Amino acid sequence: MKQSLDNCTFVIIGATGNLARTKLIPALYHLFMDGLLPNNIHILGVARSISKREDWLKEVEKDLDERARGGLDKAVFDRFCHHLDCLRSGLKTEADYQQLSHHLEQPKFSPNIAFYFSLPPSLYASIAASLSDAGLLAEDQGWRRVVVEKPFGSDLETARDLQRHFENYLNESQIYRIDHYLGKETVQNVQVFRFANLLLEPLWNRNYIDHVQISHAEDIGIGSRSAYYDGIGALRDMIQSHLLQLLSLVAMEPPVSMQAEDLRDEKVKLLRSISPIPKGAVSSHSFRAQYTAGDIKGNAVKSYLQEENIPQDSVCETYAALKLYINNWRWRGVPFYLRTGKRMKEKHSMIAICFRQTPKQFFRTSQLEQFKPNWLLIGIQPDASLRMELTVKKPGLNMETKVISLDASFNDETGRDGYEGLLLDVIEGDHSLFLRSDEVEASWQIIDPVLRSWATHQDYIRTYPAGSWGPEDSLRLFEKEGQYWRSSLDPE
Ligand code: BG6
Repeated sequence: MKQSLDNCTFVIIGATGNLARTKLIPALYHLFMDGLLPNNIHILGVARSISKREDWLKEVEKDLDERARGGLDKAVFDRFCHHLDCLRSGLKTEADYQQLSHHLEQPKFSPNIAFYFSLPPSLYASIAASLSDAGLLAEDQGWRRVVVEKPFGSDLETARDLQRHFENYLNESQIYRIDHYLGKETVQNVQVFRFANLLLEPLWNRNYIDHVQISHAEDIGIGSRSAYYDGIGALRDMIQSHLLQLLSLVAMEPPVSMQAEDLRDEKVKLLRSISPIPKGAVSSHSFRAQYTAGDIKGNAVKSYLQEENIPQDSVCETYAALKLYINNWRWRGVPFYLRTGKRMKEKHSMIAICFRQTPKQFFRTSQLEQFKPNWLLIGIQPDASLRMELTVKKPGLNMETKVISLDASFNDETGRDGYEGLLLDVIEGDHSLFLRSDEVEASWQIIDPVLRSWATHQDYIRTYPAGSWGPEDSLRLFEKEGQYWRSSLDPE
């Protein structure tokens, strides 16, 4: 156990929901297993559907059995259970919050309390208000922190409203807006890779880079998340948060230091430099589609409209792509393409940087037509990887070339999930990997024109078969003939 960390109480509001079961509790278990949590941490699961502690622990054990790294260690789990407590509550009425407050007064609970809102974002405002009314956000005796998931608001206006609302009850230093992508190993490596390797800096700009692709494909559908997903869609679910965060890390200027505020200042500056998409240009800068039935790895899968509880006329996008330009000295004129999709061929996320073409006159006496451009590929998942593609001559008397890939991949043997580091950061009070309110606002500013335009076209959406790489038509976003979405780390 970590001696140096403040003891704390970690309250998960919505402890029986999907996020808590698949991400938060496994992350806390792994941190506990590795001795990284404070000595007397107590994790309090709050949910309406919890009945008895023993039953809840059985559920937790079952979930961990499926997800624990290297299998569930029964002895570790038994010790972990001493730190788990639960409260059956729907947290609706004033009396419910009084009951929570009363529960937390037991001496075993540290007065340093983190509240994780593991519930639909529409409930954030009322929970914050009720916690505050019950005196649970006052930092008289210990710190109080609130962790919220994305999306923070559902557009610029609602994000601003929510922020104003939060400001009535919380200081910015108490709010942790989580984006689990910032906890991923390769994502953090982007900063090291960019700022610890001198040879990249001279190339990292409009003079050498043709375009950048940031791509996130998953083979899963929406599962049991229809209530959340339908009406949110891929643009809000993935692009407004995770993919714009990746873009800001790839494109920002070096921060003064890696301290939270310096880092966040640079990200905000970058996001604010993205040119707003003009109303009349939304269709040439964005693309949306929805999956139809198909086949993934030999298994037949349903269409989006056949998923449980999805209205038959839903035009919610499960695929979204955007073309953005950054209007600053480094990036002016370089397109950044962002795309995400559910029920795609396979789970694959990467950042692909395509360098400019070389002048081909150099080899004009040979039969070489056109060289392939160099690509730098940063694989995020399933494997963390880093590859640089170069053109070399094929051995032999003829002047023939081939593309080879220099592989600087690193094995992330820890197998850690992004949430682990981030939950520890909440306990440690480190905001570097959490979003500041102006950052969230800047992201919505980018997305809003597209949301507004799509909202006016509610009668039709393009489709793509599940198990494909998405709709071919989305290639129309590319500026140049022959450009295409990179979906593989291998030379193409
Ligand atoms: C979540 C989205 O934030 O990220 C999900 O709500 C998505 O829809 C998930 O599936 C993807 O995360 P990861 O870590 O599996 O790439």
